[in-house]
Amino acid sequence: METSGAAGTHPLERLHCPVIFLGPPGAGKGTQAKELARKYGVPHLSTGDMLREHVSKGTPLGREAEPVMKRGDLVPDSIILKMVAERIERPDCSHGFVFDGFPRTVAQAQYLGELLKQHGYKQPLVVHFVIEPGLLLRRITGRRMCKVGGEIYNIYERPTKVAGRCDNDGGELEQRPDDREEVVGPRLAAYEKQTAPLVAYYRRLGRLKEVDAAKGIDHVTAKVLEIVRAGKQ
Ligand code: AP5
Repeated sequence: METSGAAGTHPLERLHCPVIFLGPPGAGKGTQAKELARKYGVPHLSTGDMLREHVSKGTPLGREAEPVMKRGDLVPDSIILKMVAERIERPDCSHGFVFDGFPRTVAQAQYLGELLKQHGYKQPLVVHFVIEPGLLLRRITGRRMCKVGGEIYNIYERPTKVAGRCDNDGGELEQRPDDREEVVGPRLAAYEKQTAPLVAYYRRLGRLKEVDAAKGIDHVTAKVLEIVRAGKQ
C-alpha cells in the first residue's frame, strides 16, 4: 500500500485509481463514498450533491434540473457531463476521487472513460451495491441530511444524538424533496431502465466488484475498503 504523510503521523493511503459507487437510490453509496473519500483524503464527487447545490443557489443549471429531480427522472447527460468535466479538472482531484451517482447511463460511462484517459487517470474501479428493492423505501424515506455539512443520517438506522441536529456540526437536518414516498417509485424505475445496464457494461470491462449493501453500515465500510485495497493488485 502506498502511503504519504510524515513519520509519526497516521499514514494516509493513496487511491490507485478513481472509484465509482454504483447502485440504486438508498443503497448507501453516499454514506460509503463520504467515508472512503475521508479515509483517502480525496474529493467525494456526488452529482446529486452538485445538482442540489445548483438548485439551492438558483443557478440556470439548478432551475433546469430541479423539476426533473423532483419527478425522480435523470437530468440530461448534456448538463451532467459538463459539470463533471469541470469538476475533475480542479487541483483537489489530482490524487483521485470517489464518484457517487455518476455515471448513470452508458453514454455517461463512455464519456467518463475518455475523460479519464485524456487526464491520464487509470480506468475506474466500480463497486456495485447489491440490495433487494424491498429494503430501499425505509432507507430513503428515513434519510435526513445536514444542511451545513451534508452528513447523512437515518431516523431508523442512523439517528443523531440530538433529534434534528447533526452530530458533527449541530446543523439542522432536512429531508430531500425527492425522498417523499411518491417519488421513490419513479427513481427506482429510472435506475432499472437507465443505470442498471452499467452493471453489465463494467463487468465486461472487468472493473466491477460487488458488495452486499443489505448489511450494516460498518460491515459495508469494511468490505468496500477490502475491495479498494485488493483492486490495486
Ligand atoms: P443522487 O443524490 O445521486 O441520489 P441517488 O442515486 O438516488 O442515491 P441516494 O442519494 O438516494 O442514495 P445513496 O445510495 O447515496 O444512499 P445513502 O448513503 O444516502 O441523485 C438524486 C437525483 O439527481 C437523481 O434522481 C437525478 O435526478 C439527479 N442525478 C444525480 N446524478 C445524476 C446523473 N449522473 N445523471 C443524471 N441525473 C443525475 O443512504 C440512504 C439512507 O440509508 C441514509 O439515511 C443512510 O443513513 C441509510 N443507510 C446507508 N447505508 C446503510 C446500511 N448499510 N444499513 C442501514 N442503513 C443505511
